[in-house]
Amino acid sequence: MNEQRPAPRFGIPKRDLFKAFVCDDLSMDLVGATCATLGWSGGCIFKGGIKNAIQSLSISSSPSILFIDLSDSTVPLRDVNALAEVCEPGTIVIVGGHMNDVRLYRDLLASGIQDYLLKPFHPDQLRDSFVHAQTILTSPRPSDTPDIPHFQVSVMGARGGVGASMIASALAWSMALHQRRTTTLLDLDVHFGTSALGFDLSPGKGLAEAIDNPSRIDGLFLERALVHASEKLSVLAAEASIMQPLLSDGTAFRLLQEELKTGFECTIADLPRDLAVMCPHLLGDIHTLLLVAEPSLACARDIFRLLNWLKTAAPLVRPQVILNKMAANGIIEISLGDFEKAIEQAVDVILPDDPKIVRECARLGKAVTDAGRSSKLGQALQAYAANLIEQVGAPSAPTSHTEAKPPALASVLQKMSFWGTKKDAPSQNRYAVR
Ligand SMILES: Nc1ncnc2c1ncn2[C@@H]1O[C@H](COP(=O)(O)OP(=O)(O)OP(=O)(O)O)[C@@H](O)[C@H]1O
Ligand SMILES: [Mg+2]
Repeated sequence: MNEQRPAPRFGIPKRDLFKAFVCDDLSMDLVGATCATLGWSGGCIFKGGIKNAIQSLSISSSPSILFIDLSDSTVPLRDVNALAEVCEPGTIVIVGGHMNDVRLYRDLLASGIQDYLLKPFHPDQLRDSFVHAQTILTSPRPSDTPDIPHFQVSVMGARGGVGASMIASALAWSMALHQRRTTTLLDLDVHFGTSALGFDLSPGKGLAEAIDNPSRIDGLFLERALVHASEKLSVLAAEASIMQPLLSDGTAFRLLQEELKTGFECTIADLPRDLAVMCPHLLGDIHTLLLVAEPSLACARDIFRLLNWLKTAAPLVRPQVILNKMAANGIIEISLGDFEKAIEQAVDVILPDDPKIVRECARLGKAVTDAGRSSKLGQALQAYAANLIEQVGAPSAPTSHTEAKPPALASVLQKMSFWGTKKDAPSQNRYAVR
């Protein structure tokens, strides 16, 4: 189909502009004529109503605008919900039918339908509705033109369970709320990720669909796939079936990162170690890679190995090492000094072990920088988010008068007098973020 496409907003729209499924010849002619007046080719108008549409869209990609005649449906709402199962996020759906029922109209709009047209169709009515859909497609939205250049921070655990996801969520929350950046938390742990769970959200199917079919990734797709944790924070995550292995060479993740760049000011990626090793190009143009460890021998060994690996696999990346779960009572497997000796460089940030606050935040479905914002851990992470902004050189966003400014990282770190041994007590410079 050689139709006119709307101007691309997120860079790479690849789907058909329009498809229609109608139940009778008259409707077919009318829809075809309307498409012709708009300069859209009529090649994608099919005979058959919603059942045919469901069948067809389950094996082919969805268009940007979809028109469906519901006349052959006995329970339109149920069929529309079944359609949503196969229709890709981002599609604008217009339906038509014989039922003149306000309740049905409202229910259809509530289920995400853009418009409901009463039969028999009139050319003006079809034209107005199609033009409106095209306007929605092409009109710029605030997220299309971020004021501040985008930057990405990826968070990677040196080993499992060290707290990488807790840190990623806390930083994302703080970037969005305290730093006022439109932020996406991109959870690349598609089978076992906890980003959506951590905000008490259902991850949706978007990320899993994107991995299965990277060619579907575009701005509209993202818009439907993202779930919202707050006004400025979106989450892109999945709970892919355990039985379904991750069959991706990383292309989908790379495209997602590219797409997020054009719509958001900041991406915080929760990046599993194995995925990074398999697809080092995911580290291509990120600003900062946070390597998270806990004070253990195994973590020291793996941080050392990862730092060396990065020198060749992603030489432009400047990693920072976060030592998390530093216990106040001195019960740690390896002292800070020995850890730093083992990794042959200084640790950039140390975060306290605070099982109580972390458990409470998990129970509430909130980030540590939200429900635990007054704790030492919450304060340090808030300060670190502000510090990351300074490091990437992004201009500060204006803060409202009512909002408390996050504390300076240096002062937060100095106040933390919980190091295990005297030898490990922080000197002022040693713990300043480098
Ligand atoms: N500073 C901390 N103090 C106490 N508990 C913590 C701290 N950071 C993380 N935890 C806890 O450690 C556990 C692992 O955290 P998290 O899931 O963030 O780690 P991860 O590195 O993402 O793990 P995975 O390898 O499974 O992805 C969680 O129960 C979390 O609540
Ligand atoms: Mg994790």
